[in-house]
Amino acid sequence: MDYKQKIAGLKKDLNAVLLVHNYQRPEIQDVADYLGDSLGLSIEASKTDKETIVFCGVNFMAETAAILNPDKLVLHPEPDAKCPMAEMIDAAGLRKYKSEHPDAKVVAYVNTTADVKAEADVCCTSANAVKVCQNIEDKEIIFVPDTNLGLYVMRFVKDKKIHLWPGYCHTHRDISKGEIEELLGLHPKAEVLAHPECVPEIIDMADFVGSTEGIVRYVRNSSKHEFIVATEKEMCYRLKKENPNKEFYPPASALCPNMKKITVEKVLQAMERKIYPVKIDERIRERAYEPIKRMLEFTK
Ligand code: 13P
Ligand code: SF4
Repeated sequence: MDYKQKIAGLKKDLNAVLLVHNYQRPEIQDVADYLGDSLGLSIEASKTDKETIVFCGVNFMAETAAILNPDKLVLHPEPDAKCPMAEMIDAAGLRKYKSEHPDAKVVAYVNTTADVKAEADVCCTSANAVKVCQNIEDKEIIFVPDTNLGLYVMRFVKDKKIHLWPGYCHTHRDISKGEIEELLGLHPKAEVLAHPECVPEIIDMADFVGSTEGIVRYVRNSSKHEFIVATEKEMCYRLKKENPNKEFYPPASALCPNMKKITVEKVLQAMERKIYPVKIDERIRERAYEPIKRMLEFTK
């Protein structure tokens, strides 16, 4: 029996849904019930009627699914698959920052731990960060933890003071202007697509900026044939699979090692042994639920 059949059988046994982020390994993308960005995955997690969620992504994504589903079993096949950006802020640090800016509303990127979400007013993802910040009525915002996403939001939200936390994603920060220029030299007709976690000089070069799912949609609807994709390189697997007549060029450096810690073997093991269940202290979960719920209400 191949791994796809085994996973299909285990899904039935567990009454499970397999939620997979766009940066996962190709063989895991191929068995997804739902493949998408952080926002889409949160929405799917909030809607599912399955008893078990097997979450293939980094830990904040699996935690978000668990926050939304206290009565379901949420399995994260590799608990060590952690987003380093989410580790750049903790609840005590955010509380101190809040005390320095007492009039500000806190917008927490979903790339944060449950403890940090519990301190926030509303969450956002890269797909809705601008909209969430535009809709805040207060004139001051604390935006954590991604400085680059915050700088991107500030291009559209000029009527509010936005305080940025100095967090960043290594994978996106390391995509350089020189690398994109080199790819443009080789493929002069290509459009540049960028994730908003990229540094401002990459955003300035981009024809389109969006979440991973936003990039998928843009390519699907575009009449162009070549794209330089300034985000994690596994995106190109899905893009090529869905658009076999188009060409995609990722920067060589763009790899998220944490996303790659989940393997097919670990997914099988997790489903066979029901490991590793995501556990969140109920008091934290209740508080972290509110800002996620507010974000999902915005997005309807
Ligand atoms: P998306 O929500 O756009 O998929 O981004 C998640 C992420 O971690 C990007 O690095
Ligand atoms: Fe975190 Fe960056 Fe990996 Fe996304 S690409 S999960 S932000 S480290």
